[in-house]
Amino acid sequence: MNSKRYTVTAALPYTNGPIHIGHLAGVYIPSDIYVRYLRLVNRDVIYICGSDEHGVAISIKAKNEGLSPKDIIDKYHLNIKNSFQEFGISFDNYSRTSNKIHHETASEFFSLLHGKKKLIEKTSDQLYDPKMNQFLADRFVVGECPECSSKDAYGDQCEKCGTSLNAIDLINPKSTISGSDPILKKTKHWFLPLNNYEDFIKEFILVNHKYDWKSNVYGQVKSWIENGLKPRAITRDLDWGIKVPLKNAKGKVLYVWFDAPIGYISSTKEWGEINNKDWKPYWQDKKTTLVHFIGKDNIVFHCIIFPSILKAIGSYILPTNVPANEFLNLEGEKISTSKNWAVWLPNYLKDFKDKQDVLRYVLTVNLPENKDSDFTWDDFQNKNNNELVAIFGNFINRVTVLTHKYFKGKVPKQDELTENDKKIITRLNKFPKSIGLNIENFKFRDGCFEMMNLARMGNKYLADEEPWKKIKSDPQRVKTIINLSLQIAASLSILCEPFLPFTSKKLKSILKIEKNIRWNELSKNHILLKINHKINDSELLFDKIEDKEIELQVRKLRKD
Ligand code: 2FM
Ligand code: ZN
Repeated sequence: MNSKRYTVTAALPYTNGPIHIGHLAGVYIPSDIYVRYLRLVNRDVIYICGSDEHGVAISIKAKNEGLSPKDIIDKYHLNIKNSFQEFGISFDNYSRTSNKIHHETASEFFSLLHGKKKLIEKTSDQLYDPKMNQFLADRFVVGECPECSSKDAYGDQCEKCGTSLNAIDLINPKSTISGSDPILKKTKHWFLPLNNYEDFIKEFILVNHKYDWKSNVYGQVKSWIENGLKPRAITRDLDWGIKVPLKNAKGKVLYVWFDAPIGYISSTKEWGEINNKDWKPYWQDKKTTLVHFIGKDNIVFHCIIFPSILKAIGSYILPTNVPANEFLNLEGEKISTSKNWAVWLPNYLKDFKDKQDVLRYVLTVNLPENKDSDFTWDDFQNKNNNELVAIFGNFINRVTVLTHKYFKGKVPKQDELTENDKKIITRLNKFPKSIGLNIENFKFRDGCFEMMNLARMGNKYLADEEPWKKIKSDPQRVKTIINLSLQIAASLSILCEPFLPFTSKKLKSILKIEKNIRWNELSKNHILLKINHKINDSELLFDKIEDKEIELQVRKLRKD
């Protein structure tokens, strides 16, 4: 890791519903682990997100709920923002694309491209719903994907194979508003000639990021390039969106996928205004590392279209990495909003109060980093009871209870170290590096597994040394065992922070760690708690989850 400044973005969620576990596993948990770690290693990092409030997804939801698009975005923006906050997703700024600053920034991007003659103005045939008297773009039209033959591809993208489409490419298109067969009607739009950026994208990704980007991302980009890039309309005939800032563009708005990624920039500008900071180095200084966390259906937009826009504008940096995840399934089936097959974050937070870290843990060790993965309620219970409670929680509980029982809550002095103690110290000092390297390389599952290995090591050390048997015969030895166990617990309180921030806070409070200990200090010195430092009362970090709680969730899922 050689850059000191980081701009980390998490895909802006559509404000057409609450957040579910698929969103968390795809984007928000990995990005939150990453930025929490960067902060602990003293990087200058901003973590940027916001609500994606334009596009047909919002109009459709508004129609279904009998509300206006504005009502819908206000309702879900608040719902999403609050649940992220309660779940501990530590954004530096959570904005929304309906804000003035975003409308201005996106309009300015369009005007700049138009002024630099980087756009093509063209009148062409587009799909039109004769019953509803409106053009059919994006999610207003479904049809067969010309690439993979999936029957439910949208007008701008097939979610099955990820291909980005123009609506007129669909085979047997149908209007999702009226169900009717569209006709062709001429209309004028502005296109970004992506074909002009083929060489640029080839060099930028296929040459420069062949080895450091995830193979799923690299592979997708490569196959699109091989199929040839085509001009892409960046305007729409819709009444919901950012108005095209030209005189001859009545009734036209910007395509949602044109304005949404610009939302990262406007959210950063907003952060700058709130915190009295300059936003520009975070987007324009070549030494800044820019990382976009997204789901696999967003790859084309972040790796081809947005970089081409940034290149055309000229003064912006390009992403250093785009670590897209695959999808998370639920109980073996694809998560589906329309079928209500999902675990919704606000419901989880209500049913499992103060158990944010349990969901964070279960999702992290099962992230769809390289292939789709599956969440089951049984596994959730197992991982809580057999790992968080039985390993992590048990270790901390034993060491803190024994400290109170034998030493009145004060850290005892280390005596002579045995070979086993020395081995433990050597291993302890290696954890910050091994966990950190995994996080830096976007291997969050492995990083979390390694963090748990530290707890495992502590638990085993206590079990092997059996201080409860030695306290009478060799109290001096017990002092060393408890001292060393407390040092392991203290390391754990820092090293678990990216994965389990609520637990980290609680553990630091139990151990009464008040100063800010940085990640890198840990590998140099394992003595984090001084002799005679008094710890607070012992408290359980995790509780067992009973069968009936799980049965209730499974029933809810099957019934709703
Ligand atoms: O797929 C989605 O949910 C989009 N709203 C993601 C947008 S990411 C970005 F470009 F804003
Ligand atoms: Zn397809």
